[in-house]
Parts: sequence; C-alpha cells; structure tokens
Amino acid sequence: MHKFDNNWLSLREKIDISSRNQKAIDKINNYFKKYKSINIMDLGCGTGSNYRYLTKRIKSKQNWLMTDISLESINHFKKNLKVKAATNIISFKKINVIEDIEKINFNNFDIVTGSAFLDIMPRKWFKDFCKLNTSTNTIYFSINYDGFFKFTPKHKDDELVLKFFNKDQKSDKGIGLRAVGQDCTNIINTVFSKTHKTYVFNSNWMVENNKAFQEIFINFCENVILKNKLDLSDWIKFRRDHIANNKSKMLLRNKDFLALKI
Ligand SMILES: C[S@@+](CC[C@H](N)C(=O)[O-])C[C@H]1O[C@@H](n2cnc3c(N)ncnc32)[C@H](O)[C@@H]1O
Repeated sequence: MHKFDNNWLSLREKIDISSRNQKAIDKINNYFKKYKSINIMDLGCGTGSNYRYLTKRIKSKQNWLMTDISLESINHFKKNLKVKAATNIISFKKINVIEDIEKINFNNFDIVTGSAFLDIMPRKWFKDFCKLNTSTNTIYFSINYDGFFKFTPKHKDDELVLKFFNKDQKSDKGIGLRAVGQDCTNIINTVFSKTHKTYVFNSNWMVENNKAFQEIFINFCENVILKNKLDLSDWIKFRRDHIANNKSKMLLRNKDFLALKI
C-alpha cells in the first residue's frame, strides 16, 4: 500500500484550505439547511484535514465517522484532536475501502466525503462505490488531481516530467490494481450523474512562498524520474535552485466534486 507521510499531509493542509472551492460548501449548507444534525463519513481521512476544514464550515450539527486503512494516521488525528465540541461526535474505524467496500453501510450517512483520495482508487472501485451510494444525499470529494502542474520559471523538460508524473499517478500503488489518477473526477462525475445532480469546481494549488512544500513535490518528481531511468538531473537541479532562492512558483490543477441527491 502506498504510504502517505503525515508531515506531507500537514504541509499540504494549509494549501488545500486556500484551494478548496467555497461554492461546494454553499451548496452543501443550502441542501442541509432544514436538518438538525447530519452524519458524515470521511474516507481515507489521513490525519483529519478534511474534517478540520468541513466541521467549521458545515452549519448543521455533525456526527463524523473517520475511516482510513492506516491506524497510524487515525491515531495521529485522535492525538491532535483539540476541540471535541458536543456538536461533533466523532468515531473512528480502520477500513480498507477497496477490499471491504461491500461491508460498509453507507446508508446511515448523509454525506460521504474524502479529500486527496479519489485519484488513488482503482477504476472498478467507482462502480462499486456508486452502486452502494445511489441513495446517499451528498457525495463530496475535494482536491482531486486533474493531470496538470507547472512550475515557473519554465524549463525545456517540464512537459516530459509532467508526462511521466501522470503515467505514474495511474500505476499500481501496491494493491495489485492500477489507480485511476487524473481521470478520477471524470469517472466519478459519469457514474453519479445518473442518480444525482453533480458539480465540478476548480480547487487549484497556487504555491508561491512555501519552500518545504515545493521541495517535497520535487522529491516526488525525482522518484518518478529515477523509476523511469530518465536523464533529467538538470531539471531537478534547476527546480531545486529556484526553490532555494525563492524564485519558484507552482500551480497544480485539482477539482472538487459534489453530487446532491435530487
Ligand atoms: C493523500 S492521503 C489524504 C488524506 C486526507 N484525506 C487529507 O486530505 O490529508 C490518502 C489517504 O487514503 C488512505 N488510503 C489509501 N488507500 C486506502 C484504502 N484502500 N482504504 C482506506 N484508506 C486508504 C491513506 O492511508 C491516506 O491516509
């Protein structure tokens, strides 16, 4: 299984907060305005970034079920959970959402959600997930990578790196099945548009001053470059030098997906 570094998740959280699309939240609040309380399931909760973002913005009272395959991430979230307001009852469960999907009872939940999660799922999962959620009021997945990033200033090998990065996003991350990568938003939109009213909003990362974040992203690119035995050491050096000298900017395109039961 692909391992997610909890430091990377917390570095990313600030960027995600400023990237996520407010229109999705407005629609969710409008949809649930007559509900006294709602039940929310977070898939692949990691260290809880999706919870921290949504709990403050959703106006109804909330009961959360946080789920992840990684007990380490769930425990990290539990340890750092400072405010356990009476309005937010939280429970936790270690779940493999791919292998155990048939065992999950989605019917008890008004919102099934996740962030930075959809792109790592295999194609078959979307069909299974949709079949079990035809009656769920709201499906909301935020920060879905859509296949494009760029750094400024430009380098002649940018396109090549992007091509291999995207290919890697679609590789098997250790579960024996290929991830859908950047196709995730199109796929989920197609499956849910039969039963729900669906929306796709932009939630792009625009990173200017955050050196640590950009450095880690270059490390990801370097791994892909090494895996594919590409001779792109000049690109890596160019990017690292510009980041070190505060001369680097990064844009990465994401989408937020929302489906409302009509
Ligand atoms: C990129 S992280 C995102 C975490 C968090 N939602 C966030 O936005 O920071 C993806 C998460 O999905 C979890 N995950 C990966 N495969 C999973 C599976 N099969 N079942 C449940 N969780 C899984 C990982 O452990 C990780 O915490």
